[in-house]
Amino acid sequence: MQLTLPATLYRDPAVFQCERQGVFAAGWQFLGHESEAAAEGDYLAGDIAGWPMLAVRGRDSVLRGFHNVCRHRAGPLVEAGRGSCGGELTCRYHGWRYALDGRLRSAVDFGGAEGFDPRDFGLHPVRLAVWRGFVFVNIDGQAGPLEDLVAPLGRLMDERGVTVGPATLRRSHDLACNWKTYVENYLEGYHIDVVHPGLAAEVDTASYKVRMDGAVAVHEVATSSGVNDGLWAWLWPNLAFNVYRYGLMVEHMQPVGHDRTRLDYLYFYDPETADMDAVLAASDTLTLEDKVICEAVQKNLDAGVYDQGVLSPRHEAGVGWFQNRVAAAIG
Ligand code: FES
Ligand SMILES: [Fe+2]
Repeated sequence: MQLTLPATLYRDPAVFQCERQGVFAAGWQFLGHESEAAAEGDYLAGDIAGWPMLAVRGRDSVLRGFHNVCRHRAGPLVEAGRGSCGGELTCRYHGWRYALDGRLRSAVDFGGAEGFDPRDFGLHPVRLAVWRGFVFVNIDGQAGPLEDLVAPLGRLMDERGVTVGPATLRRSHDLACNWKTYVENYLEGYHIDVVHPGLAAEVDTASYKVRMDGAVAVHEVATSSGVNDGLWAWLWPNLAFNVYRYGLMVEHMQPVGHDRTRLDYLYFYDPETADMDAVLAASDTLTLEDKVICEAVQKNLDAGVYDQGVLSPRHEAGVGWFQNRVAAAIG
């Protein structure tokens, strides 16, 4: 019998600080798709569990990762999102200017400070890798090769003929729950009959299977109709690849704090052929259903009466596997 993790892990800000290091800084984290920063000076930026990250395309067309934190007094270089910074990164506080390779080009109007050498004040670099167009960063620089992590995902996409075109749409949803509460909900199909009556009518929930392959949890289910293709692949620690009949949606389950989560959805579809109204309507319905139940569960985890529960061997192997990984990552 596997017990769940103690409820305190879902509400204690100190646990989230451990996760920022042991889970998020230690592994590969999704930042976006390279098509979103195609030209010189284009950037992708976003917070990864409280680490402000930036990837910018250099003059040599290479995409480089940096902390989005100025070396003067910690101002931001760019706003979270996507855009172009032109030929250099200019701090939004006092205007220090950095080259696209992170070197400090000008500490604007700084004055002569003894011992100050601009060469010592380049942006803090971050390890970055691109896989099939998906951009990942590894903050502590110690993770194994990205290719090893995503290999099961690559095999799955090849088997199912999933192709990825340019990113075409981003949407976000905010949830009042710990990130693990949402991830665990994602990692089982046990709740589908009760929480998602519409989806339950489309899929054969009796055939629902979750299997683990390396760092990937693969959900497969027979579907009879609708926009879902019965394949959901989830990559440790918080990224899902949801396959639709019309294309792909990458779902990033981002912690915003110990008690807040933001779902960033990135859609890849062919506008000529996709019925996106149907895809987005189905997505909105599912997301709202999951949001309502996850926020209610979080409220109960916070209340204090519940400490540990028990996991179903038939339906919650994915949840148990995730919880074991979390426990190992935060020691
Ligand atoms: S904090 Fe960036 S220029 Fe001052
Ligand atoms: Fe769900």
